[in-house]
Amino acid sequence: MKDTLRIIIGKRKLKERVSQLANQISDDYKDKNPVLVGILKGSFIFMADLVRKLKIPHQVDFISVASYGSGKRGSGVVRWLKDLSINIEGKHVIIVEDIIDSGLTLSYIRNNLLTRNPKSLKIVTLLDKRRRRKTKIPLTYVGFSIPDKFVVGYGLDYDERYRNLPYIAWLRNERDD
Ligand code: PRP
Repeated sequence: MKDTLRIIIGKRKLKERVSQLANQISDDYKDKNPVLVGILKGSFIFMADLVRKLKIPHQVDFISVASYGSGKRGSGVVRWLKDLSINIEGKHVIIVEDIIDSGLTLSYIRNNLLTRNPKSLKIVTLLDKRRRRKTKIPLTYVGFSIPDKFVVGYGLDYDERYRNLPYIAWLRNERDD
């Protein structure tokens, strides 16, 4: 099946928006030394670009989770592959996501992190597929709201491909026709 990529958010637009988000976070977290928690793998490029634009001291950590087999997909229950290495108790935490779809993964992670008593817990996501949401989730910083289309690039994959693309593209294949 032939894949066609159509760019929906170009390199320059991404760069500009990521800088704006970093400026906003830098203003909001002055003297707060936040811990930025990236959810692997999709967030790795967004995280790398975001922190290089931050103007405040901060720490970086990662969580890796996997959805259970397709039978349980959509339940939001995840298998924990890598936990934080930083103790977040009493700290200001910002979860860094590449995309929020149903919101179930993040809702599960958020509830888990809240049990560790951070001083605050906010979310920054580069992409928000709002129409797909199945659970309410408070988003403080959103890069772009996007339509319900399958997108790849800038960390996001299809079967582990396309993560390296410097833009966000809609992946279209013959199935869509
Ligand atoms: C993506 C994304 C979120 C999740 C969003 O990860 O990074 O973690 O899906 O979906 P949801 O809002 O419907 O729960 P994915 O499972 O593709 O893993 P990856 O980041 O390792 O590619």
